Amino acid sequence: MSIAKKDYKRITTKTLVDMKAKGEKISMLTAYDYTMAKILDASGIDAILVGDSASNVMAGYETTLPITLDQMIYHAASVVRAVNRSLVVVDLPFGTYQSDPKEALRSAIRIMKESGAHAVKLEGGKEIKHSIKRILKAGIPVMGHLGLTPQSIYKFGTYTVRAKEEEEANKLIEDAKMLEKLGCFAIVLEKIPATLAKKVAESVDIPIIGIGAGGAVDGQVLVMHDMLGMTHEFNPRFLRRYLDLYTEMTTAFSKYVDDVKKGDFPNEEEQY
Ligand code: KIV
Repeated sequence: MSIAKKDYKRITTKTLVDMKAKGEKISMLTAYDYTMAKILDASGIDAILVGDSASNVMAGYETTLPITLDQMIYHAASVVRAVNRSLVVVDLPFGTYQSDPKEALRSAIRIMKESGAHAVKLEGGKEIKHSIKRILKAGIPVMGHLGLTPQSIYKFGTYTVRAKEEEEANKLIEDAKMLEKLGCFAIVLEKIPATLAKKVAESVDIPIIGIGAGGAVDGQVLVMHDMLGMTHEFNPRFLRRYLDLYTEMTTAFSKYVDDVKKGDFPNEEEQY
């Protein structure tokens, strides 16, 4: 499906909540730049996440921790300039909301004001409750993120499936209910057992968007570079690749190199 400019109706946080009520699945992908976001918006995606996975796929860091608030705002503003229809959600990066609620609010305000995005996403439950409350009180929509939370990778020590044990699973359900009660409009659940994700989705009225959380949730999100097959080395079980762009692109780049070396590019028609 491609969306003609005049046909669009802006997706809001309320649209997503209504979609869950109607049993309509929510599609979400990440984007970090103008050109990709423009293509994504035209493809009919419901929501775009300017994820701190930009730290990995755009900047080449091993974790999401190094990316800064200024860098997230740069990526978010580029995406917002491209989007006519989709809801744009932006990750608050590591270190900009965990220490105190006032700092969390300042960070969220900078994202909203300087990028024009529509909502922010924060990783964690009870431990960041006061930061979430403060941001919501300022009228900024918040998406939660539970399960595997990559900003805490050094606490977990691994990117394996979370909440397999009863205690962690119970805490996750409690956290999800708390996020709903606080006023979050949706929650991302990352890499947890599908049965637990289903239980969470049934326990709250706000949409649960899964990544590696099975099909019984209200929507799905993937990192764009992964689903396009640009990241060959990342192979989790949950990832479906829709293209093999790594191969397609290396073939195209090699062909260009050959053409230049042979003097085949540019030809007569490709010059002034
Ligand atoms: O940063 C990101 O891309 C994310 C998704 C993996 C949900 O948080």
